[in-house]
Amino acid sequence: MVWMDTRGVEMLTVDTVEHAVGFRSLEDEVAGEGLEVHGELPAWLTGSLVRTGPARFEVGDRSLAHWFDGLAMLHRFAFDGGRVTYSNRFLHSRAFEHAEQRNEIGYSEFATDPCRSIFARAQALFSPKLTDNGSVNVVRLGDETLALTETPLPVAFDAHTLETAGVTDWAERVPGQITIAHPHHDAETGEMLSYAAHLGPRNRYRLYAVAPGGALRVVADVPTDRPAYMHSFGLTERYAVLTEWPLVANPIKLALSGRPFIENYRWAPERGTRYTVIDRRDGSVRARVQGPATFAFHHVNGFERDGELLLDVSTYDDPRVIDLLYLDRIRAGAELPPATLRRHRVPLDGGDVTIEPLAEPVFELGRIDYGRRNGRDYRYAWGASDRGGAWLDSVVKLDVTGGDEPRWWFDDGCYPGEPVFVSDGEPDSGVLLSVVLDAPRDTSFLLVLDATTLEEVARAEVPHAIPFHFHGDYLRED
Ligand SMILES: [Fe+2]
Repeated sequence: MVWMDTRGVEMLTVDTVEHAVGFRSLEDEVAGEGLEVHGELPAWLTGSLVRTGPARFEVGDRSLAHWFDGLAMLHRFAFDGGRVTYSNRFLHSRAFEHAEQRNEIGYSEFATDPCRSIFARAQALFSPKLTDNGSVNVVRLGDETLALTETPLPVAFDAHTLETAGVTDWAERVPGQITIAHPHHDAETGEMLSYAAHLGPRNRYRLYAVAPGGALRVVADVPTDRPAYMHSFGLTERYAVLTEWPLVANPIKLALSGRPFIENYRWAPERGTRYTVIDRRDGSVRARVQGPATFAFHHVNGFERDGELLLDVSTYDDPRVIDLLYLDRIRAGAELPPATLRRHRVPLDGGDVTIEPLAEPVFELGRIDYGRRNGRDYRYAWGASDRGGAWLDSVVKLDVTGGDEPRWWFDDGCYPGEPVFVSDGEPDSGVLLSVVLDAPRDTSFLLVLDATTLEEVARAEVPHAIPFHFHGDYLRED
């Protein structure tokens, strides 16, 4: 049954919101607990899946406002000889420590402001109160394992024990106040490639590379009038592409409005989307072209073909999804707008960008055979999907060439997260690892799927329900 809330948002009736348990805080922590496995884990699977996501949604008597605001918890599944152990631990960020010790929200999150006076709100973005709540992604850079959010404060932690070490030393060299939690890995140099927005009298986008050990260089520096909210960027073998969706902020308001970060951004579809194509070799701008107004969080892949640059992106028509992920709405079953995999064709020598759908199913949290295919022509992508419900309830494999029909995995009452592809050594072959919420049983399990067929290989029962979380990676060596 559907009803409209006071702001005209379509909601399901509360008693039908089976998946709301995915937005409940988790306080339990366990260390190295052996999990019961149904099925058989591949013997070659000997690394660990390490993930991050929000797990505490209340501090003192306040609730955080948005799914993206919750305090980060790390989760680790370590595989060895057909067995798997599980550990989980809160990330002891400055934001977490403040909440623990003072019982109040001390830092600005995506859509929640800290407890503080009106006077102290001014210049929040330029103050040392930027959050380091690394709830969005986990990356490995050399010997460091880092929990990332969208501020330039990556938090290092021990990949075995999940013990927090603290904000990494090279954080102070990140060339901007806003960055992303989806850097790319440059296999040739071993660098982490990312972008930052530098706000000031003149606003810049800066593409930067960090080498293992922390040496940081700025690859490109591009002016902008209004910084756009970008959650990831496109990469091909030669180019990096900033896709400036027309969700933009006045930088002065970002600094002075006293409003939570994302509330400073406005949807300005008349701007269209601006694609800035940067040559990775010398940092020059190869093209800056225009396309239809759309919005996205996640680039899935990009490559060059016949004078065009093709970007495959989980694309929304507009950024309404952000508004619908406030906790009060999402717990009440707000219907999310669908993201589908669309190809953005970026001409390098004149003309506008065009967008075409690649496949019908909803497609979010997409992964590819990253080590082999990133930046190159490819065929398969795996993601979370839904079959018409209010939340992601299935895993789907897409053939972006249109050759094979989509393949699916789903189970009653189960809500899988990002399916992480792990190669068995052959191209596009291996397993998918996804943490699944089993809502009726109020628990979670780790799901292992055959990446080719999407048949279930194994599942391992977790001792509690893990709140819906975002991203992570498979670490081969630790
Ligand atoms: Fe993301």
